[in-house]
Amino acid sequence: MDHKQARLRIAALAAEIREHDHRYYVLDQPTIADAAYDKLLRELGELEAAHPDLRTPDSPTQRVAGGLRKGFQKVRHLKPMLSLDSLMSEAEVREFDARVRKGLGLDEGLFAGDVAYVAEPKYDGLSLELVYEDGVFVRASTRGNGETGEDVTANVRTIRAVPLRLRDDGPAGAAKGTMAVRGEALMPLPEFEALNKRLIAAEQEPFASARNSAAGTVRQLDPAITASRRLDLYAYDIMHADSHPMPTQWAMLEALRGWGFHVESSAQRCTTLDQAVAFHAALGEKRDRLPYEIDGIVLKVDDRTAQQRLGMRSRSPRWAVAFKFPPREEFTQVQDIVVQVGRTGKLTPVAQLRPVDVSGVTVSRATLHNQDELDRKDVRIGDWVRVRRAGDVIPEVVEVLIDRRPRGTSRFELPAKCPVCGAKVEREGAAHRCTNGLAGPAQLERHLAHFVSRGAMDITGLGDRTVQQLIEKKLVEDLADLYHLTPIDLVSLEGFAEKSIDNLLAAIEASKRPRLDRFLFALGIEHVGDTVARLLAEHFGGLAGLVETSEEQLQEIRGIGPEVAASVAHFFGSARNRKVLDRLAKAGVRPQVDARPKGPRPLEGEIMVFTGGLETMPRPDAQRLAERAGAKIAGGISRKVTLVVAGPGAGSKLDDAQRLGIAVIDEATFLARTKGVQ
Ligand code: IVH
Repeated sequence: MDHKQARLRIAALAAEIREHDHRYYVLDQPTIADAAYDKLLRELGELEAAHPDLRTPDSPTQRVAGGLRKGFQKVRHLKPMLSLDSLMSEAEVREFDARVRKGLGLDEGLFAGDVAYVAEPKYDGLSLELVYEDGVFVRASTRGNGETGEDVTANVRTIRAVPLRLRDDGPAGAAKGTMAVRGEALMPLPEFEALNKRLIAAEQEPFASARNSAAGTVRQLDPAITASRRLDLYAYDIMHADSHPMPTQWAMLEALRGWGFHVESSAQRCTTLDQAVAFHAALGEKRDRLPYEIDGIVLKVDDRTAQQRLGMRSRSPRWAVAFKFPPREEFTQVQDIVVQVGRTGKLTPVAQLRPVDVSGVTVSRATLHNQDELDRKDVRIGDWVRVRRAGDVIPEVVEVLIDRRPRGTSRFELPAKCPVCGAKVEREGAAHRCTNGLAGPAQLERHLAHFVSRGAMDITGLGDRTVQQLIEKKLVEDLADLYHLTPIDLVSLEGFAEKSIDNLLAAIEASKRPRLDRFLFALGIEHVGDTVARLLAEHFGGLAGLVETSEEQLQEIRGIGPEVAASVAHFFGSARNRKVLDRLAKAGVRPQVDARPKGPRPLEGEIMVFTGGLETMPRPDAQRLAERAGAKIAGGISRKVTLVVAGPGAGSKLDDAQRLGIAVIDEATFLARTKGVQ
């Protein structure tokens, strides 16, 4: 293909992909199957690679993340980013309306009348300025102090709902010159919950709210991380446009929608204040069912000339206010503070609260994170505290009501000895940790349960009750003891007959050749979830190198941050842990770099989702079978998924799959296709 043909083809491909992105991410009405979409994107990428001069910054291929950044540049906003006054009650909103009418001369006399407002949800995310030059996205920055913010362009580029080039369904010619759009980056709640689950599984600190996680994701130094978490963005304001005066706020929203932005469809033009108040009540009702967090509504005078006449106070306009929802907060008393010991020996203080209803959900516990957090908030047993349901998931102690503190309380300190095993507790950074590492009884029960679980060493037949008994009877005192169990040991366990003894011993034997990444994951090293385990396994290819590396060397590995590096180095630096690893090796446990099961892999390359019931086996077993057949299991439906197994009762996942044109099979077909897989 010559240069000219390539140029034409690239333009056509880019336009087509843009259209599909818009349909998928903004309209939520995709019209192309995954594979076909990927093919378009691949063709575009290949053409651009062959003709690098034809690759433009607004090409759909440029959403992919670039390299790691050291920090963010400061940028000055085109126009100051204002904030809004917050009102809590209808009475205050009526006063606001009275001020507006007075300011516009509509309060009495001949021209007395209502003011039209636009009512929009008040998104609880991170406010951004997006700058476009002649319709092409060039820069995004955070609000910062309102005048200057941080340049987060590379990260915002990865948000699919941000058009990299404006569509031309907006007002004709209006996108010419420089334009600044304001919008809110949000993390959809399902994505937020999944992210927190992943963080907790890797023993990392979860985000306290969807808002925090959106902010943390936009301000990531590694755009690859931003890209991997699916953020959304809703636009609500054109802060500056060289070439197009908008007569009303409503017209502005329409223009934004036409240019391809996500604009909330529930936004409403209200011709009376009563309508606006009703909108607030109705949205408040719907609040818990929305896919993202909102904390109120924003009311804006619709007419832009009227807006200008009303003007501003120092930082907020006189023509708009936030009418907030009641906070998801309550007061209650701390009945106790208990200390939990995690799998990796980390001590976490947890406040036990007198149960309290916080807008419909009973809250009875709240994590206090660590000693620093305890010190900062100075939470004591007996204190009255303000608690908040943050982002709907993890209840949080916001503050102590010092005035109501009972007499005779004292500061809470994490214990010097582990509450589970009595071993010494040491401080490591912000965390307190039981020093009884891999070998000790303290965390052994949880540790062992994790070690044998699916995704780790995958030893079937070793349920929680068995793990408990093995420890109680002192048959297992460290992980390596597992490999020295004999039939005689097992006979003494409740519920073990000859057959189950054989099965268990066979399963233990079969686990001696784990994949290295699963083995690393199984060790329960703090911050090492399955993703980090895979990175380490790929990088080192064996245990030997890993055991000897330093924290600094670990940090140089892409994707490994300082916390992970410290934790891994600390783990392998511990003499006690190395002794357990030695004993595991002597018992014949040999992690393999790529120990894929042999035999046919008929589902190689498929990315699968199971939905609905199965008749012949439990779902985890079916998933394992699929994995042995070469498939990867995905958590939910996305463009990446290639095959769905649907059974009775399948719901929205099946609908989504069909909408995306993903192949769907039933259980019988699945069994037929995996026949002969070992
Ligand atoms: S308009 C001059 N509209 O609320 C008007 N703001 O302090 C400026 N927000 O930081 C803002 N949803 O991040 C507007 N529909 C909406 C909004 C909204 C959320 C945020 C915005 C701002 C804060 C108000």
